[in-house]
Amino acid sequence: MKNLAGAAGEPPPIIFREVTAAYGAEPVLDSFSLEVLPGEILTVIGHSGCGKTTSLKLINGLARAQSGSVTVFGQEVGALGPKQLIALRRRIGYVIQGVGLFPHLTVWKNITYVLDLLREEREQSRQKALSLLGLVGLEPELLRRFPRELSGGQRQRVGLARALAFSPRLLLMDEPFGAVDGITRAQLQRLLLGLHRDLRPTIYFITHDIGEALALGDRVLVMRRGRIEQLGPPAEIRERPASDYVRQLTDTIIYKK
Ligand SMILES: Nc1ncnc2c1ncn2[C@@H]1O[C@H](COP(=O)(O)OP(=O)(O)OP(=O)(O)O)[C@@H](O)[C@H]1O
Ligand SMILES: [Mg+2]
Repeated sequence: MKNLAGAAGEPPPIIFREVTAAYGAEPVLDSFSLEVLPGEILTVIGHSGCGKTTSLKLINGLARAQSGSVTVFGQEVGALGPKQLIALRRRIGYVIQGVGLFPHLTVWKNITYVLDLLREEREQSRQKALSLLGLVGLEPELLRRFPRELSGGQRQRVGLARALAFSPRLLLMDEPFGAVDGITRAQLQRLLLGLHRDLRPTIYFITHDIGEALALGDRVLVMRRGRIEQLGPPAEIRERPASDYVRQLTDTIIYKK
């Protein structure tokens, strides 16, 4: 598959500028500013409710900023109309916990759902599904199975294949590997790193597992109560935690070993 890396000097695919977002009185994101760099894996970690999923929803326009702006592929998301939002979402691959595979569609149709929407030819779509299955390390026999006939790890792989179907330059992943056992999870993490090395999409990867955040991220964003607690490469997070909060997060790993 072609290399998806942008040319050097490409602008950040995602820019948050001083974003405040709230569902009620309390801000969920508070003066949140961030540039996600082209081709990087940015892992986002923080306690439940700190605003991780909300930050992701701001990227694809499922949530709106009260103030500040979110710019994706050079377009200000808050200023887009419904059709432009749909067009933007079609340029983004999603992998979400529990996957959200369509239960009544086969693996083939699940994977090529977006392509079928784009009216791809049947044989072309089958070939594409097969090549995507190969990409995520699944056997061709699985093509005609339904999601209920797959293991949790296989489902996650299908979810990843679907997200990659149209070679997106941006992947949004929200705790994608949370529901599988440790060994399967490690396999999926290796798979993702391999795919990233080959295809170089930008990946916004939310996790509540600090081990996963440090292992996968080119940079790690530690969030706390809607704010950025620390942003930096894994080694910096580990060796120079900016606060007791970050130190406590990384300490949980050290205690495990
Ligand atoms: N649609 C909504 N309506 C009202 N409040 C919401 C809504 N979605 C999220 N919230 C609240 O906003 C806060 C942040 O939620 P968010 O989903 O961004 O957290 P998170 O960091 O992804 O947490 P988790 O790790 O549990 O997934 C939480 O207090 C949550 O209850
Ligand atoms: Mg969440």
